[in-house]
Order: sequence, then structure tokens, then C-alpha cells
Amino acid sequence: MNIHYFSGEAWEEQYVREKLPNESITFHTESLDASPDLSDAETTVLCIFIDSHIGEAELARFPALKLIATRSTGFDHIDLAAAKAHGVTVCNVPFYGENTVAEFAFALILALSRRIIDADERVRTGVFSPDGLRGFDLAGKTLGVIGTGHIGAHVIRMAQGFGMKVVGFDAYPNADLAHTLGFAYAPLPDVLAQSDLITLHVPYNEHTHHLINAGNISTIKKGAYLINTARGAVVETDALVAALKAGTLAGAALDVLEEEGDLADELSLLTSPHPNEAAIKTVLEDHYLIDHPRVIVTPHTAFNTQEAVERIIDATAANITTFASGAPTNVVAQKK
Ligand code: NAI
Repeated sequence: MNIHYFSGEAWEEQYVREKLPNESITFHTESLDASPDLSDAETTVLCIFIDSHIGEAELARFPALKLIATRSTGFDHIDLAAAKAHGVTVCNVPFYGENTVAEFAFALILALSRRIIDADERVRTGVFSPDGLRGFDLAGKTLGVIGTGHIGAHVIRMAQGFGMKVVGFDAYPNADLAHTLGFAYAPLPDVLAQSDLITLHVPYNEHTHHLINAGNISTIKKGAYLINTARGAVVETDALVAALKAGTLAGAALDVLEEEGDLADELSLLTSPHPNEAAIKTVLEDHYLIDHPRVIVTPHTAFNTQEAVERIIDATAANITTFASGAPTNVVAQKK
């Protein structure tokens, strides 16, 4: 296989070559997005991360492509229909450590409940006083878990360790899980109305686009907190800004932002031949959220532990090997 491997950190190169000793690998530290002039008629595999977007235009640059192996759970950065039409298989890493993202979600929950960021900033300014930094207990509070898959289930286990009550919402409720972990499912409006904290763990797709939106955000229990480690566009940013202004939400912790790709590259957003006004507005709102005193924003780093990154690479290398052997694994799109 002739593989282009994008967005690798320097240390990864040797690690990946050892995992795939028989493959020809061109290693890039940059994303495919950052290499707009790259094309290769021989490439059969693109191994990418979420900062590489693949649609018709990119597929046309790699006409011999057979496989896109994304080193992520989410695959909303890939046009699956276009890949299928080109006969390209897409595989992902469906789980590599639900504990990793769940631990981060809880780090955010605790940062909100105990005002850890404010407290640290306070001490750095030379003031060693807890005045005005009072938080709230998690024990006895209700956590709404939206999406009770691999990560959501782990969050539920952790919440129970903290003595929280859990109410879950999922398009495909898992009765066994609810029974084993001792939590109840409820319709989305009930979860929004009952929860003191709401944490999002659904994939991003056309059904979850703006799942939290202008039409339902005002039904959230007044003074609740929203935690998003899923994907930015699961939440309508306009609505989030309005809910913070109205005090419906007391605060939020966001590892992902709508249009976070444009946020990372504002210059090209502004100078592109056809600037997308809606995206520019969302990026401005992202800045409002970043600057907001009751919002914590982190740069899509929930997955980012050494152990998890190694598990992701191991699983991706296995996906490439199984594909080469004719029995692909973790397929999310394939020509019928
Ligand atoms: P999963 O597939 O195990 O669980 C997702 C759950 O959402 C499933 O139970 C599914 O039934 C439910 N669901 C799907 N569509 C729904 C809908 N329309 N309404 C309600 N529920 C729906 O996925 P997992 O591993 O728990 O990951 C969830 C998401 O977390 C990923 O898709 C990814 O976008 C995000 N993620 C973010 C990371 C980060 O670094 N911030 C790292 C890893 C994942």
C-alpha cells in the first residue's frame, strides 16, 4: 500500500513505521488541508486526523485511492457519499479509550463546579483568598447524559462515583446498560428540564446538527451547565450565546466549537474568494464564548493522552492491515 500519513507528530513517524513495516509511508506533520497542492496518482491510502477534510476535490487529487483511515472516532470531516461513489472505503477508530474522553468531560465538570480556572488565575495574580470562588457539590445533582454510547456510559459510571443522579437520552436507548448502571432514560425535553449539568456524547451528523438549538435551549433548567466534548455543531452557537446572556445557562465548558476549523485559520476564512458569512458570524460568537467569564474553552483535546493516541495509531494500523488483507475492519463507508 502507498500511504500518505497526515498530521503526525514527529515521534509518531518511527512508531507508525514499526507498526506497518511492509508499507510505503509518506509522513506529513501537516494536515491534508494544509497541503492544498499535493496530489499523487499512486496513493492508495490516506491516513488522516480530523483536521483533514476530504470531499470530491480531495478525492480527485488521489485517483488510485482505496482507503481513508481516520485516526478518530468522528468521521464528519469526510464526505462519505463521495468516498463511496469513488469506491473508497472509510474506516475509523470506534473506541480507543472511552475513559480518556470521559475523564476529560469530568475534568471540565469539576472545573465548572469548583471554579478551578478562576481559582488558579486568582492565585497567579498574587491574591490567596477563596472570596467569591464558592462552587457547588456534584453529589445529589442530576447529570443529563445525551448519548449513552462508549463515552457516555463511562461518564455515567463516573457520575455515580460522585453520588450524582443520572438521566440519559439516546436515539437508541440501551435497556441493559440502564439496568446495569442503574440510571433512567427520558425524552430529550425532560433531560433538558431536569438536569443541573448536561453533557453531550453523540456523534455529529444530520440528525444531531444543532441538537441543542434556539427552539429547546430555553427549556433547560435555569442555572444549569452545558458540557460539550462531542462536536461543536451539535450545539447551535447563536442559541448558546443567547442562553448564557439570558442566564438560562449558568456556564458552559466546551472542548469543541462550531467552525473550530475556521477559528484556527481565521486569515484564510477572511481572505478566501467566497467568505462564508455564516461561518464568520459563528467564529465571532466563538470569540465571545472564549472571552466569557463563565465559559471554559479547550482546543479539542479531550482525546489527547499519550495512551489514547498510541491506541488510536495501533487501531488505525490494524485497520490498514486488515483492509490490505481483504477483510476490512471498522468500516463506516464502503462501495456497495
Ligand atoms: P458511540 O457511537 O459509542 O456513542 C454515541 C451514542 O450516541 C450512541 O449510543 C448512539 O445511539 C447515540 N446517538 C446517535 N445519534 C443520536 C441522536 N440523533 N440522538 C441521540 N442519540 C444519538 O460514540 P462515542 O465513542 O461515545 O463518541 C461520541 C462522540 O464523541 C464521537 O462521535 C465524537 O464526535 C466525540 N469525540 C470527541 C473527542 C474529543 O477529543 N473531543 C474524542 C472522541 C470522540
